[in-house]
Amino acid sequence: MTEPLLEISGLSKTFVSGGRRVSAVESVSFDIRPGETVGLVGGSGSGKSTLARLLLRLTPPESGRIRFEGKDWLDLSGNALRRARARLQMVFQDPLAAFNPRATVADVLMDPLRIHGTVVPAARPKEVERLLERVGLPSALAERSVLDVSGGQRQRVAIARALATRPALIVLDEAVSALDVSVRRKVLELLVALQKENGLAYLFISHDLAVVRAVSHRVLVMDAGRIVEAATASRIIEDPQSDAAKALVRAVPKLESENDAAT
Ligand SMILES: Nc1ncnc2c1ncn2[C@@H]1O[C@H](COP(=O)(O)OP(=O)(O)O)[C@@H](O)[C@H]1O
Ligand SMILES: [Mg+2]
Repeated sequence: MTEPLLEISGLSKTFVSGGRRVSAVESVSFDIRPGETVGLVGGSGSGKSTLARLLLRLTPPESGRIRFEGKDWLDLSGNALRRARARLQMVFQDPLAAFNPRATVADVLMDPLRIHGTVVPAARPKEVERLLERVGLPSALAERSVLDVSGGQRQRVAIARALATRPALIVLDEAVSALDVSVRRKVLELLVALQKENGLAYLFISHDLAVVRAVSHRVLVMDAGRIVEAATASRIIEDPQSDAAKALVRAVPKLESENDAAT
């Protein structure tokens, strides 16, 4: 067996708001192997985004460990952290929230190349062109404002930006949820194709089991901060065990087998 790329054990995060304690993430443990897509599915408020933010070190956990590429991820700092960050990237539902509204597409892609020193300055324009090509966008898009491209194109730019630092793992939090069905399908196909080319791993987060099923090798079901079920998407759909999984299956009116890209 290959070594896990990411190993999470006993991860917990509690929020206190209005005098009430919320266990957003509670004793969560799982692994992701190189080149694997793990789907994380759960209803609204089940703790998916908090888990993603803990993974990206956007918020600190109360307890638990994260190992990434053989290193204790929560202990890294300075240059070692910066190098490791290049290997763990994220794509959100709304890339505009993460982009400077005055930026061009080229600016958005140049930033990580500069910050992480991925390629020498003279090679950056060519690298931007190559990144656009990899996500199926024309190089002419580079000069456009990020406000002046479609939602689907913008999400492809966000994926290109994540790819810029040559990551081993991309966390996608509701990354296709705002896209309409045909655009969504194309972006999912792109993710699968990029994985085949590069051996990337994904943590693919969505509230929609049908979307998760289309790309995931394995699925984790989250409910009230805990992982309550872990199996292949087909097994969960055919024979859900937990109440949370049963509710997610019911929420999908008709699961179409032709969406199955990963299995
Ligand atoms: N910054 C915060 N302060 C207080 N409570 C929070 C905060 N972030 C998330 N929560 C709470 O944690 C729980 C999990 O939220 P979240 O991780 O966003 O769930 P999901 O992404 O699955 O919808 C919810 O009850 C939410 O209200
Ligand atoms: Mg969320």
